Amino acid sequence: MHIPNNTRENILEPEFLSDIDSWHGHIPFAFEIIRNTKPKRFVELGTHKGDSYLSFCQAVEHFQTGTKCCSVDTWQGDEHAGSDAELYGTDIYETLSAYHNEKYSTFSTLMQMTFDEALSHFSEGSIDLLHIDGLHTYEAVKHDFETWLPKMSTQGVVLFHDIEVRYSDFGVWQLWDELLKQYPGFGFTHSYGLGVLAVGDETPEWINEIASLSPDLLETWKKKYEFYGRAILSHSYQRQIEYFKRLLEQKDVEISALKEQLENVSDELSQKQKELVIAQMTVNRRDTRLTALTAQIEDIGKQYAFAQQASQE
Ligand SMILES: C[S@@+](CC[C@H](N)C(=O)[O-])C[C@H]1O[C@@H](n2cnc3c(N)ncnc32)[C@H](O)[C@@H]1O
Repeated sequence: MHIPNNTRENILEPEFLSDIDSWHGHIPFAFEIIRNTKPKRFVELGTHKGDSYLSFCQAVEHFQTGTKCCSVDTWQGDEHAGSDAELYGTDIYETLSAYHNEKYSTFSTLMQMTFDEALSHFSEGSIDLLHIDGLHTYEAVKHDFETWLPKMSTQGVVLFHDIEVRYSDFGVWQLWDELLKQYPGFGFTHSYGLGVLAVGDETPEWINEIASLSPDLLETWKKKYEFYGRAILSHSYQRQIEYFKRLLEQKDVEISALKEQLENVSDELSQKQKELVIAQMTVNRRDTRLTALTAQIEDIGKQYAFAQQASQE
């Protein structure tokens, strides 16, 4: 048995990477599964900004596999992916759709609807490769798997993201453990885990070869993909570091402008304080003068009264 070949130089560079990096570590495998199994139809359930989906599309175009691709998502988010405006504003779908339509619309369609609504658009046994990456509770992913299973062809392979996530109510790991007892498959542990499950009777040769490697060889083979995946991830991190550096530089400029404003305001304030001290001194002087004048008037009043009294006597 030989290890299905792949080398770093052989593996494409991803053309699309957003700031959502949870799937980036699996992009080399996405390229290779398309290249080696040449699915006739690929469907993704859960696309968000497009990091996984666009890597499948890039491989389809690059290797000219003739695969028809469909992505299904409401682009409204869910309780795990989040649903706030920053993550799921209308611009997320529009940005993806503009990029996608320019490059891949000849063989790929974005379907903005629920996974259940999309079911009726696919006939039984028509999908060779399915990637399930929607809501990650046990119930949701089981529902997605069971409702889409009849759509899988005899060569069908299903990919599950997040099989390694065991916190909160993530439950893909649990379904994955159950399914591995019924179907042949293997799973990657990096980048939250990716399960690869062969659900048909005519599993593609490439998948069969990998699934039947001895545990040691399989580990070595998977490590290679983990290594390639980490190279992409470090590239994503580098881009994020550069983005945050630019943001910091912008903030530094804003802080210097604010400091300058503050200095101007402080100068004005100390000028006003000086003026206030001078005004207070003037008022004090006038107060003193007023008191002296009042005393003088009282004195004159008394003298006048005294003079009047003397003239009457
Ligand atoms: C984890 S994200 C997908 C991540 C994507 N594969 C990537 O590479 O970044 C899950 C997506 O599934 C979508 N989703 C979840 N449940 C859905 C359902 N029942 N119908 C349609 N879309 C759904 C959400 O809107 C969200 O965009």
